[in-house]
Amino acid sequence: MIYRRCGHSGIKLPVLSLGLWHNFGDIDSYDVAHDMVLTAFEQGICHFDLANNYGPPPGSAERNFGRILSSDLKTHRDELFISSKAGHDMWEGVYGTGSSRKNIIASCDQSLLRTGLDYFDIFYSHRYDPETPIEETMQALIDLVKQGKALYVGISKYPADKQAEAYAILQEAKVPCLLSQYRCSIFDQKAKHTNFESAQQAGSGIICFSPLAQGLLSGKYNQGIPADSRVAKGSMFLQTSHLTQERIEAAKKLDELAQKRHQTLAQMSLAWVLNDERVTSVIIGTSSPQQLMSNLKALQNLSFTEEELQIIDVIADNPLISF
Ligand SMILES: NC(=O)c1ccc[n+]([C@@H]2O[C@H](COP(=O)([O-])OP(=O)(O)OC[C@H]3O[C@@H](n4cnc5c(N)ncnc54)[C@H](OP(=O)(O)O)[C@@H]3O)[C@@H](O)[C@H]2O)c1
Repeated sequence: MIYRRCGHSGIKLPVLSLGLWHNFGDIDSYDVAHDMVLTAFEQGICHFDLANNYGPPPGSAERNFGRILSSDLKTHRDELFISSKAGHDMWEGVYGTGSSRKNIIASCDQSLLRTGLDYFDIFYSHRYDPETPIEETMQALIDLVKQGKALYVGISKYPADKQAEAYAILQEAKVPCLLSQYRCSIFDQKAKHTNFESAQQAGSGIICFSPLAQGLLSGKYNQGIPADSRVAKGSMFLQTSHLTQERIEAAKKLDELAQKRHQTLAQMSLAWVLNDERVTSVIIGTSSPQQLMSNLKALQNLSFTEEELQIIDVIADNPLISF
């Protein structure tokens, strides 16, 4: 495993982290989830990315991860870097969503109970909430650190102007933002242009999610919809309507380039995100230990020639594929 330093902090993270958004809920196989977490840990992936609402049902990914921790990784707590987040819809009623102090503190307490952890290594505001003053959201994160419930704090999907405000408030309280999370892949390069520079200047690490555009950039949909895929399983986040001709054509062209590099398309797509050295880590999702092992081989070739990067830019330069 390769580890990169997280912004101006003392923390290093593996360049590949494992996310538990899909495939770790109660609708999924516990045995497969268990194998993926243990395989990841054995391969040096010590960072696991959770959120209160991961499942389904919401909360079940945290509960299942807690079960794996307690059965197999209890004695390794100090080798693990575990995140959770609050901000999206979680429980019924007016306090079960958004980025108010009420939601963030209660949600963190609930996530600690579900995972069985004493503290999270990092706790995020999962999204910017325009209905809550940003000072209130940041103060809630700062207080989680002061209460010992989180060691570090982070923000996810914040617009560029709001992330600058968040960094300033956190900095003043001497609880600097450890990580900023953005969606980033060959198919969605927006954050690279709008957010990365200010994150880097503020000393925040950058961590990218959905590097394979939820599987589109594995090439798995190039010949149709595999029966065991995210689309076939009926995810509301990746649907048949997202598999447009433009995206499939682009994936096919990218696959040709990947083959010339002796990589799978998934491996090349992960390497492409990591080619930006501002990126601390990439959060991957997998539905089997085999996918995880295959994706890890991306680390065998992280460099690109100028010509390869230009080919990728030309293929990606189409607003219709952005996803
Ligand atoms: N902060 C936020 O708001 C936010 C939002 C989204 C995600 N995230 C984080 O980012 C993590 C990753 O997101 P993601 O799941 O969208 O990531 P992704 O890496 O873009 O997509 C993962 C999916 O691609 C498919 N796949 C992966 N490797 C493959 C391979 N070698 N061959 C074929 N198919 C492969 C699998 O889907 P199949 O089921 O089809 O096999 C897998 O579940 C999440 O778990 C979460 O922790 C954060």
